[in-house]
Amino acid sequence: MTSTGRRVVYPGSFDPVTNGHLDMVCRACQIFDRVTVAVSENRAKNPLFSIDERLEMLNIVLAPVIKSGQVEVDTFDGLLVDYCRKKGAVAVARGLRALSDFEYEFQMALMNRHLAPELETVFMMSDEKYTYLSSTLLKDVVRLGGDVARFVPAAIATRIHRKLTSA
Ligand code: PNS
Repeated sequence: MTSTGRRVVYPGSFDPVTNGHLDMVCRACQIFDRVTVAVSENRAKNPLFSIDERLEMLNIVLAPVIKSGQVEVDTFDGLLVDYCRKKGAVAVARGLRALSDFEYEFQMALMNRHLAPELETVFMMSDEKYTYLSSTLLKDVVRLGGDVARFVPAAIATRIHRKLTSA
């Protein structure tokens, strides 16, 4: 990936990546020249997948856009704003699904603005068919034997099954 153009960082836990996340990456690609999908360890959320596994899954499902040079996948530790500065990003991209996301996102955006006034947060809405989709809900549905084919690429569904049945 070259260092030219306007870069956005799309951060998250991605535990695991869903079609909603992929939809967001596509939308970010329409607006920004470079998109960095940044995976946070987020131990507080007690993730199902290790950070390496989450990174690997993102690399698999985003392979075509990574190959094109517009998207990269990375991990970060510490403050998001420090990572964004290091990457030379002009903005942070976050998805908004329902009103319930708003308060948390609003707090984060304003705290990040306090920490780095030059960094903008851009909210995007994924396709409405993913409005009620979350990685947490997805894991629950798989755990209870439901079908998630519509919400994750097949390779990811297989990994969730494998992970939950090997636990
Ligand atoms: O997918 P998630 O779990 O909603 O992503 C949350 C994430 C990783 C974006 C957020 O927890 C974060 O930015 N963590 C990094 C630590 C940080 O900068 N905290 C202060 C932000 S207000």
